[in-house]
Amino acid sequence: MSVVQALSATVAWLGQSLGASELLHVLDQSTQSISGLVSAVRAYSRVDETAEAEVDVHEGIENTLTILRHRLGDVTLARDYDRSLPPIRVLANELNQVWTNLLDNAIDAMSGQGRLGIRTSRDSRDGADHLVVEISDDGAGVSQEHLTRVWEPFFSTKGEGKGTGLGLDIVRRIVMERYQGDVEVDSQAGDTKFRVFLPVAIPREEERAAVPS
Ligand SMILES: Nc1ncnc2c1ncn2[C@@H]1O[C@H](COP(=O)(O)OP(=O)(O)O)[C@@H](O)[C@H]1O
Ligand SMILES: [Mg+2]
Repeated sequence: MSVVQALSATVAWLGQSLGASELLHVLDQSTQSISGLVSAVRAYSRVDETAEAEVDVHEGIENTLTILRHRLGDVTLARDYDRSLPPIRVLANELNQVWTNLLDNAIDAMSGQGRLGIRTSRDSRDGADHLVVEISDDGAGVSQEHLTRVWEPFFSTKGEGKGTGLGLDIVRRIVMERYQGDVEVDSQAGDTKFRVFLPVAIPREEERAAVPS
């Protein structure tokens, strides 16, 4: 795949996950600096990378924040990173879809104002070492009866033309099926936390499910 083909595939994917108006915004900003956009999108999508590599999760989160910056408005970012976390073996652009969908939802929930927390830590569950990424927001929250439904494909409370209801389904499939990790949500009004658990030693690629599509 040439870089141009890969970039247009990435732009198409961004369009699906961000929505048309946001994509236009990203492209509009980019006319001021095409080469800047090309390098940001390349770093974000790792279009030239088709093999798994050891990545630092913080790098992917920060690239994703760069891509989503125009959406942040007056949202305050609160980072609490454990920089001692080991790199993990993944396809960077798959993991970036996870951060994009979770951050996008948190930003939607706050309607332009609030506190977006990103915390990384280490945890052992089921006897294995896991890396934990928690994305929190102080928006309206998920109602009790929706807590288990949010992971369903096409479940959305955002109304016609706004939500596809696929974001969290993609998150769940990439984290659980591809990387044998886990996802969790805790939510009350004003305090919502989505957690992603990724095994530090991810099983070898041939032992895992195919890329979700
Ligand atoms: N941070 C959050 N705060 C409140 N509700 C959320 C949050 N994240 C997800 N949700 C709920 O989960 C639903 C499904 O999310 P998602 O699969 O990303 O689809 P979409 O964002 O297209 O609606 C959302 O419509 C919303 O009701
Ligand atoms: Mg979403």
